Amino acid sequence: MKKKLRSHDWFGKDDKMGFVHRSWFRNQGYPDDYFRGRPVIGICNTWSELTPCNGHLRDFAEIVKRGVAEAGGFPLEFPVTSLGETIMKPTTMLFRNLASMDTEENIRANPIDGVVLLTGCDKTTPSTVMGACSVDLPTIVVPGGPMLNGRFKGECLGSGSFNWMVKEKTLNENYTAEDILEAEIGTARSQGHCMSMGTASTMACMVESLGLTLPGAATIPAVDARKKVMAQLSGRRIVEMVKEDLRLSKILTRKAFENSIVVNAAVGGSTNFLIHLLAIAGRIGVELNLEDFDKIGSKIPLLVNLKPSGKFLMEDFYYAGGLPVVINELKKYLHTETITVNGKSVGENYNNTICYNREVIAAVEQPLQHNAGIAVLKGNLCVDGAIIKPSAASKKLMKHRGRAVVFETMEDYHIRIDDPNLDIDENCIIVLKTVGPVGYPGMPEVGNVDLPEKLLRKGVKDMIRISDGRMSGTAAGTVILHVSPESAIGGTLALVKNGDMIELDVEKRKLHLAIADEELQKRRSAWVAPSPMAARGYVKLYINHVQQAHLGADLDILQGGSGDVITRDLH
Ligand code: FES
Repeated sequence: MKKKLRSHDWFGKDDKMGFVHRSWFRNQGYPDDYFRGRPVIGICNTWSELTPCNGHLRDFAEIVKRGVAEAGGFPLEFPVTSLGETIMKPTTMLFRNLASMDTEENIRANPIDGVVLLTGCDKTTPSTVMGACSVDLPTIVVPGGPMLNGRFKGECLGSGSFNWMVKEKTLNENYTAEDILEAEIGTARSQGHCMSMGTASTMACMVESLGLTLPGAATIPAVDARKKVMAQLSGRRIVEMVKEDLRLSKILTRKAFENSIVVNAAVGGSTNFLIHLLAIAGRIGVELNLEDFDKIGSKIPLLVNLKPSGKFLMEDFYYAGGLPVVINELKKYLHTETITVNGKSVGENYNNTICYNREVIAAVEQPLQHNAGIAVLKGNLCVDGAIIKPSAASKKLMKHRGRAVVFETMEDYHIRIDDPNLDIDENCIIVLKTVGPVGYPGMPEVGNVDLPEKLLRKGVKDMIRISDGRMSGTAAGTVILHVSPESAIGGTLALVKNGDMIELDVEKRKLHLAIADEELQKRRSAWVAPSPMAARGYVKLYINHVQQAHLGADLDILQGGSGDVITRDLH
């Protein structure tokens, strides 16, 4: 027997409420048959003029609608909170969970049978996927795609990656103020999101490797006509998915998450991958912990030569064959039987791929680097864990003992970092506190703070930096992030003092504050928690409920899902 559509409870009844639900929609000019058995497809759009990376998604929604209508569906677009990475203060991460709540409640409360998520900029992908997971309808993601390669002064410049070099370029490569001004548009030449393997590209690869996009969708540039084809085909496919009742929970199995960890390691994806994947797993009810990333991903070879770890950019990646080539290369590490949104398995989808440029995508037998996945560190400085991305770090610093130079807050850092009298050299370890989920609040991407000017002038390119914050996916360096528990709730990081010695040994996965236990205990007893950063509103809710980084920094009240059933009606 044909399963009743969810939207039937709104549109299918011939009583008073059926009249109410249909009648107001009729003011848009829909014929009556639109309400009689067509699957209603919600097109969840993160378009906003305040999110330039998603500026083209308004047009894309129309293309998706074309596909939905062709397949016999009824497309209805709706807006959700959009998060512009380079604009929102203090950090978009503070609002990821808010945007996920918005997405979840919008999907559940409305007559929607299936969902298309239109995403792009960093947080717009995880937030909408998290929200959709908590409802668990058939869902497909259309990633908006990267910008064309940045180009300036004959160089390929990665958006995001370049801005971390501005201070160094100005000091050491005689970039003038005019050059920097020109580079602003040179690194943002078209519509789309950052075109390095930053967080947005990582998120696009994440959703494809989880099975949530049509094969090949992640890497197509935003302005390539094939992106539009992908959007239209996704519109057609979601209607079929509703008929097949192919829900997120059928695709997002533990094995799909393991696949995604493998792929992320091979593409050199952002460290933000961990925090978002953990949060998504928490919503769909899959057991996943920080150690899984190390266990599954750290032995995976690096295959993709993209900035910030490598040389090329997303456009090159696409022309070389894109993510399908990588997935095919990785088959021996993957669960190839996992199902994806097109109803086929990973093995079936990624069988016939051709690599057009081995400089961009290496073969698994000749990788760019062995053991490239993110490493999870433990020790008295991070009892619940901290992470480092070895592919973006300096080999010579992977085992190091250094003197701590401590900054209590970001403001403290800005005041003192370029002070010529600051007692610091390249062997020191920069420790940055109060940038975690509760402390900042929102865990901003500040972990890769610039080095002191006096050391940059000497030609120093990297130093160890430790914090409870995050790092932009476009950044590189020997940066230890996501220290958990964070300093603002009394983690050991809060107790580090200038001059303490810190030991890092990535191979042994160790991060240790070398002081006596009694001294540590003394400092812990004397520690006073900072005052909360908000007295009201969403930020207070966030501070009171946010979980630590090793759990994905979701709100505890948002864990899991409530399904698609609404218990009370509109009377
Ligand atoms: Fe939007 Fe990088 S700022 S993707």
